[in-house]
Amino acid sequence: MRSPFDEEISNPLPVTVTPVHWERRRALQGGLAVFVASLLPSALVGGCASPMGRAQPLLGFAPIPPSAEDRVVVAAGHRAQVLVAWGDPVGAMAGAPAFRRDAANSAADQALQAGMHHDAIEYFDLPYRSGSSRRGLLAINHEYTDDGLLHPDGMRTWTAEKVRKSMAAHGVSIVEVERASEGWRVVRSSRYARRITGFTPMRIAGPAAGHPLLRTAADAEGVRVLGTLNNCGGGITPWGTYLTCEENFDGYFVHGGAVPQELRRYGVRAKGAGYRWHEHEERFDAARHPNEPNRFGWVVEIDPYDPAAVPAKRTALGRFKHEAAIVVLADDGRVVVYMGDDERFEYIYKFVSADRYDPKDRAANGNLLDRGTLYVARFLENGGGLWVPLPATAEALVHTRLAADAAGATPMDRPEWIAVHPVTREVYVALTNNSQRGEPGRPGPDAANPRARNVYGHIVRWREQGGDPAATKFHWNVFVLAGEEKGFGSPDGLWFDRRGVLWIQTDVASGALNRGPYAKLGNNQMLAADVWSGELRRFLVGPNGCEITGATQTPDGTTMFINVQHPGEPAAERSDPDNPRAVSNWPDHAPDGRPRSATLAIWREAGGAVGS
Ligand code: FEO
Ligand code: CA
Ligand code: CA
Ligand code: CA
Repeated sequence: MRSPFDEEISNPLPVTVTPVHWERRRALQGGLAVFVASLLPSALVGGCASPMGRAQPLLGFAPIPPSAEDRVVVAAGHRAQVLVAWGDPVGAMAGAPAFRRDAANSAADQALQAGMHHDAIEYFDLPYRSGSSRRGLLAINHEYTDDGLLHPDGMRTWTAEKVRKSMAAHGVSIVEVERASEGWRVVRSSRYARRITGFTPMRIAGPAAGHPLLRTAADAEGVRVLGTLNNCGGGITPWGTYLTCEENFDGYFVHGGAVPQELRRYGVRAKGAGYRWHEHEERFDAARHPNEPNRFGWVVEIDPYDPAAVPAKRTALGRFKHEAAIVVLADDGRVVVYMGDDERFEYIYKFVSADRYDPKDRAANGNLLDRGTLYVARFLENGGGLWVPLPATAEALVHTRLAADAAGATPMDRPEWIAVHPVTREVYVALTNNSQRGEPGRPGPDAANPRARNVYGHIVRWREQGGDPAATKFHWNVFVLAGEEKGFGSPDGLWFDRRGVLWIQTDVASGALNRGPYAKLGNNQMLAADVWSGELRRFLVGPNGCEITGATQTPDGTTMFINVQHPGEPAAERSDPDNPRAVSNWPDHAPDGRPRSATLAIWREAGGAVGS
């Protein structure tokens, strides 16, 4: 297939199924090694400069074998501490209600405690711009609830109070943490501690604010919405705000009638995912409130340094099942946000701001994410790629999937996290799996999604033209096809640390875990990859039924924070309230306990960068 840009994409990279060395040579030839040496810690210099013979390897730990134990196993020489678990009070507000192991905490308690199902996480130094690696704020997403665990009797009875508790267990926690003599501790007296839930008022910002598609009975202006839901991936901006991504928002809505095409394209269906919120919160009945679903599926910007700041839903970034929002700066200072839409055959997007980042004036960046161009990715068979701009209309931002369909975007195998190399700015995306690729009536394999019935998933990477994140063309190839021989499946979380180690986190569905093609892979895990050599090493394995997700680190790289999500998840939709310990009793392992998602702090016992 010839594209109009074939001449300009004169030297497309070969598509490979094994890691290639394409960047080491470029980095050295292009003078980037000098740039690296001038900016980054010596460990990174070591990793990059190894061809010049003065290096330690990027990965310094001994890989661990798979595990199917109900505990966290981490590479020798490292420690992993449970820091913030579901139900832990996030601050000292209103008496800081303690977690009750019988799940009898009220909705009001839950609104002051860490939510369920931790996902994305970011670290914000305290004070702002201090560079502190000893004191900071963690922003933690709470993606969804398992109502079989959340209430003492699950969903057997169903009340307004239970709906409130479920909504309060969603959203984001802002938690202050500091280094203790051993490990880390939560600062309960923090003035920053905050919960953002399914009730928190937020403003709708950007080009679609106030559009008729966003107006409802409760909000005639279409500018104010209650809550953020299904907070999955995330991101951090250069001006110190948190981006939380609304993913599977469709599941909270029911629709008793003929579902309009615009809502069907996002999965809104008769009974949703079974949350039954609409029975007590009418706005989740989409037949009665057809625009309420349009107010979810956005990227939400939160200022963790100002507990009174109203979160903003950034409509310029489009509406889809947002997985992550990874921010980098273009060469001219414009802000670029890479985003995936995690569903089978959905797309990869990029936003480029109209205005430039001002490093000297934090407040001046407050509306940078409100003006710009939203692009969708088209992966060409020849290894080239195009960023296709979407129409600059409110309709295209609200119904982004429909606009992207019309733009001829490439349907991908479930784009999850995206990660940008700290030096080369090459971009990696986890395509977690797609069992329907090549099935009758569904798209077949293509160059960027090369496997039919792709049960293991893969990672694709691209290089923007001229190395500029704002470019409209790119070169891409396949970094790795996951599988038994690679020791992992279903890559989901993906994150580069400052040394250039690519951390890969897996999310094999609990119904498939340790069975069938996944029998030898053990529990979900985190691996470290050296993208120069292609080497992969298993670093950490989680407890039963969990996925590993979210990653960040302190500025000095000595502590890494990650999340263990849904330990104990059964193959069924929700846990059995009569036997909440059926799969896992992590992390408490109390006789009357129940599994809890939690944030881990991980450090190297001898000091130095995690994984070195
Ligand atoms: Fe919430 Fe696509 O993971
Ligand atoms: Ca994910
Ligand atoms: Ca996943
Ligand atoms: Ca998940």
